[in-house]
Parts: sequence; C-alpha cells; structure tokens
Amino acid sequence: MEATATSTKAKTGVQGLDDILAGGLRRARVYLLEGSPGTGKTTIATQFLLAGAAAGERGLYITMSETDEELREGAASHGWGFDEPNRIYELTPPETLLDEDQQQSLLYSSDLELGETTKRIFEAMEAHKPQRVVVDSLSEIRLLAQSSLRYRRQVLALKHYFSRTGATVVMLDDLTTEMHDKTVHSIAHGVIRLEELAPDYGAERRRMRVIKYRGQNFRGGFHDMVIKTGGVQVFPRLVSAEHKTEFKREALPSASAELNKLLGGGVERGSSTLILGPAGTGKSLLTLTFAVQAIARGECAAMFVFDEELGLLFERAKGLGIDLAAMQDSGSLIIEQVDAAELAPGEFAQRVRACIEQKSARTVIIDSLNGYQAAMPEEKQLVLHMHDCCSF
Ligand SMILES: Nc1ncnc2c1ncn2[C@@H]1O[C@H](COP(=O)(O)OP(=O)(O)OP(=O)(O)O)[C@@H](O)[C@H]1O
Ligand SMILES: [Mg+2]
Repeated sequence: MEATATSTKAKTGVQGLDDILAGGLRRARVYLLEGSPGTGKTTIATQFLLAGAAAGERGLYITMSETDEELREGAASHGWGFDEPNRIYELTPPETLLDEDQQQSLLYSSDLELGETTKRIFEAMEAHKPQRVVVDSLSEIRLLAQSSLRYRRQVLALKHYFSRTGATVVMLDDLTTEMHDKTVHSIAHGVIRLEELAPDYGAERRRMRVIKYRGQNFRGGFHDMVIKTGGVQVFPRLVSAEHKTEFKREALPSASAELNKLLGGGVERGSSTLILGPAGTGKSLLTLTFAVQAIARGECAAMFVFDEELGLLFERAKGLGIDLAAMQDSGSLIIEQVDAAELAPGEFAQRVRACIEQKSARTVIIDSLNGYQAAMPEEKQLVLHMHDCCSF
C-alpha cells in the first residue's frame, strides 16, 4: 500500500497547477511556495492538504504566522474545514520571547528559541505522522536564525528530518524579510513563485511560475491564476503545438453570396480572419453572418463579446432577422459576455478552449480584439497571446 502511494505524485488540489507540474508534487520531497503577502500561498497550501484528505492522507499545517482561528476562518470563507485527517499545529513563539526578564537577560538567545521551534515541529510530526505537511512560513524561521548561514543550516536540518518521515512538504515564504537569500531555492526540490500585479485599472492580476522542479520537465513561464471563493484556479498557458489535429481545409461561406464571391468561396476552415473597420461600419453584424451559416450547417459557434452589451446585440441582430436568443437556447450558439477589466488573458484562452473542446464549437468570434487587448497587463503581449490562441 505504501509503495503504491509513493509511486504516484501528490495532487496539489489545484487542477491547473497539477497540469503545469506534470501531475503534481513528487512525494517525500520538500517544496517552496513563495510570494508576497496575499498572493494565495495559504489558499493553495490548504487545497493541497484537502486533496490529501480526500485521498485519505493525514495532513499537518504548521502555522507560525497565522493563528489557528485565522486559518480556519480563511478556509471557511472558501467553504472548507480543517477536519481529521488534517490538523493545524499552531507554533506560537516560546514564552521566553514574551518574558521581559528573559529578553533583557544576557542569557536570552535566539539560538535557544530556534532550537525550541524545531524541536516542537519534530514533536508535532511524531504525534500526527502526516503524509502531507505545510510550514507557514519560513520567514519566521529566518528571523530566529538571524544569519543566512544559520538559516540555511536550519532549513537543511528540517529537510533531512522531513525526508526521513517520507512526508511531502510545502514550505511557504512570504518574502518579507530583508535577507533576500536564495538559500532555500537550492535546498527545495521544487520552487513555485506567486505574483500579483496591479494594473492601472481593473482587478488585480495574479500569475505563477515554476522556477525549478528537479528531475523532470514542467510547463515553464508565467501562468495566469485567480483566487475565487472556492479556491485558486490556475490557467496553464495555451501551447498550440500540443493540440495538433487533422481536418479538411474547406471554404466556409458566409450568408452573403456577394461576400463569398469576393472571398473566393468563403473563409477557410482552420484559418483566422481579422475584420478591420472604424466604429459603426458593421463588423459585428458581418461576423454574425458567419455564425449563422455555421449553425445552419449544423455546427456549433461561439461568440465572445467584450465591447457590446448582450441585450443590445440581440436587439440589433433581431432587426436583421437573426434570432440569437433562439440559437442560444437550442445550444448551437454560445455567447459569452467578457469583462476585460476583470479577466486575465489566460482565463480567456481557457474559456475559448473549453468552448472548442467540450462544446465542440467550430466557429469562434472574438468581438473585439481591442477589448481583448484591454485585458492584457502589457499591450505587447497581445500578439503572442493571439498567436497561441489562433494557432490553437
Ligand atoms: N473567500 C474568498 N473568496 C475570494 N477571494 C478570497 C477569499 N479569501 C481570500 N481571498 C483572496 O485571497 C487572498 C489571500 O490569500 P492567502 O491568504 O492564501 O494569501 P497568502 O499568500 O497566504 O498571504 P500571507 O502571506 O499574508 O499569509 C486575499 O487577499 C483575497 O484576495
Ligand atoms: Mg498565508
């Protein structure tokens, strides 16, 4: 039983993250999850323990920065509980720290405290014998260690201890201490970095990156993520090269015979077409005719509308004799209103992908690119995103 448990990877409880990590975290190793305060470390760590509990594994959350109550409250806000086989171990600073006599005495030494902290971690481990462990956070240990050398030694000692117990360990680091040493990077088996960016306007943008993962390949680069009630969602970067399929390159006509003549029959399947024009020249309505034709052929079409209010679009189409609501009800048309200020580009790509893979949409309309561009934290990324999206 033990052998089968170690042969499979430990799922992180965040689907997109497992995908990036090629299945999850290798068992009996120590990982580092780092990011500034509020980037979602505790949330991911909690999901990691919940995924373990779902598989019947014992989990231990060793918390030094948040109290037991704060942790439970945070988890409850997502609808989770810290029930058996998961446990929280609150590691408060030893009483000596609060004792003024001790602080003033020459005998007071952070050495003692550091030793005490590690001893108590070991004790909690012995008492619960967890298969999954979270240490929140390393910055407290770094503070106690005071010097970079002692910090490294301490984390190394913890790592050796953990590896003897066979537990999969996620250590959190909030990058708040001034010593920005990368010592733990070289000790950990894998390092994941969480980031939060604040655009000039709109909701915060979150992203993550796997900095290293020993002995295996992973999906590199930045991946968008969001924290919603119910947990963290990660959107692995769309790599079009992974999705090659065979299809017939036929010309697909629009509803207008004249336009088809101009296009030499229509637009080609598997191609992408850009429709340019100033405001009010009829771009949206023209693209609609392609959707209408696709639906008439018995296919499914998807529209992502950034700029226009859906009610208004439905009204306008009705004026042309196109009943979008009926098409939507029959399931042949998927219309999604997209709020550029709220949506991460990766999340958008994920939604397009879901429409194509799960609802088998064969015609996709993005109205408009300007709206999509507004969802980018940096404009120059639009071309790359569009390239991956279009070639997918
Ligand atoms: N119930 C919830 N619904 C939606 N978003 C939430 C919810 N709870 C927390 N968040 C978001 O998650 C963020 C906090 O995440 P988390 O506590 O995991 O961060 P952290 O990296 O552990 O921070 P710290 O370093 O301060 O401990 C909040 O700032 C908030 O944006
Ligand atoms: Mg936290």
